[in-house]
Amino acid sequence: MGKNSIVVGCQWGDEGKGKIVDLLASEVDIVARFQGGANAGHTIRVDDKKYVFHLIPSGILHENKVCCIGNGVVLDPFGLKEEIDVLTSQGIDYSNRLAISGAANMVLPYHKLIDAIQEKARGTSSIGTTKRGIGPAYIDKVARHGIRVVDLFAPERLRKRLDYQLKIKAQYLEGSDDERADLDRTYDELLGLVDLFKPLVRDVSRFLYESDKAGKTILFEGAQGVLLDVDLGTYPFATSSNTTSGGCLTGLGIGPNMIDTVVGVVKAYTTRVGAGPFPTELIDDTGEKLRAKGDEYGATTGRPRRCGWLDLVALRHAVRVNGVESIAITKLDVLDGLDEVKVCTEYDLNGESLSEVPLDMAELFHVKPVYKTLAGWDGTCTAKTSFDDLPENAQKYLRYVADDLGVEIKIVSTGAKRDETIICQ
Ligand code: GDP
Ligand code: IMO
Ligand code: MG
Repeated sequence: MGKNSIVVGCQWGDEGKGKIVDLLASEVDIVARFQGGANAGHTIRVDDKKYVFHLIPSGILHENKVCCIGNGVVLDPFGLKEEIDVLTSQGIDYSNRLAISGAANMVLPYHKLIDAIQEKARGTSSIGTTKRGIGPAYIDKVARHGIRVVDLFAPERLRKRLDYQLKIKAQYLEGSDDERADLDRTYDELLGLVDLFKPLVRDVSRFLYESDKAGKTILFEGAQGVLLDVDLGTYPFATSSNTTSGGCLTGLGIGPNMIDTVVGVVKAYTTRVGAGPFPTELIDDTGEKLRAKGDEYGATTGRPRRCGWLDLVALRHAVRVNGVESIAITKLDVLDGLDEVKVCTEYDLNGESLSEVPLDMAELFHVKPVYKTLAGWDGTCTAKTSFDDLPENAQKYLRYVADDLGVEIKIVSTGAKRDETIICQ
């Protein structure tokens, strides 16, 4: 590849970014995460082994690749320790190739407690968060009373900052018998992580800058997807970070001249976990079939994912706001065996035809998808490694999507495993 690329999700997350990043990682020197936290669940299957990463970048399975966690990530230090322990137990050597920005804000146990309390308070309007404390941690960051990774190495400052949490979060923490509200315990447990974290923490921004200057190539790994972006997604049914390519610059402390291209990951149909509008959702047998065949259950929470047809209107938004130049289409194999395959080309909003998502995303609750129906295919896409070996109608489906979006197809994924992939020329 020889280029620095951002890989972003073009739908509501779970597009298969983990698989694609793992694949592309073999061609780069560094993989860096720039936003989100342990709400992400990125799955990689190599032979018969399955790995799910929440915070650790999806390049870690390749020896010699350096993996960075940027300042834009909200980092659960206890969650990261668990992931590191899994690496160790599987014999994956991460030493000298996992770097964490000291400027990243931490997700602490009380953030998860508050996430759960706030979700309950939202009642029927709940977002369906992953309860990983993401929203509350980003709130603290923006309010400027977050606790950052560097604070781990300044115990007095850490103590003071934790004590301050009690004052501003009394409503949630005071008198609570939930152990996540116990700040003394959190303080002690954080100090227990200092030795593990010390060698991992560095100035990620500078490291990337110097690596780029030295001719190394970098892959920037997005989490979630554009429709969950806090500014550009289906707000308020969104996450709390900029999941789009813009978030990469601030989330890693790099300049735009370091980015060569943006690769969008697109699932061949659409899924969503949690609440919020989903115009092409299928609440019928076909939706069930997609869920069963695609094994559509959350990699982080295990929740069943809502399933539906591909939504080109939403994807046009994804291409535009991210500057997507090429796409990786995943899970094409899941569409095998269907008589017909539909793609949404427009929305109908009370008789008005929309070819782009409306500014007020709440209107997505009321739009009706207008579909173009394409023929399904005999034969299978499963595990194919050459475009020409795909059934003709599957090729037509892919071309239809690429033409509509005005992008090049770079990769077609035909199975969960690393080698079940077509690299397009
Ligand atoms: P991510 O969050 O974008 O990394 O995606 P997830 O890992 O949450 O969900 C994608 C799921 O689809 C995982 O279980 C992958 O192993 C699986 N997967 C990825 N690509 C393919 C594919 O082409 N075909 C099939 N059948 N499964 C795939
Ligand atoms: P990856 O990186 C799918 C969804 C949650 C919820 C909303 C807000 O694996 O694609 P949060 O916990 O972030 O406050 O939840 O966002 N969500 C995801 N959905 N994939 C993800 O990550 C997600 N991360 C958050 O289900 O609807
Ligand atoms: Mg996922």
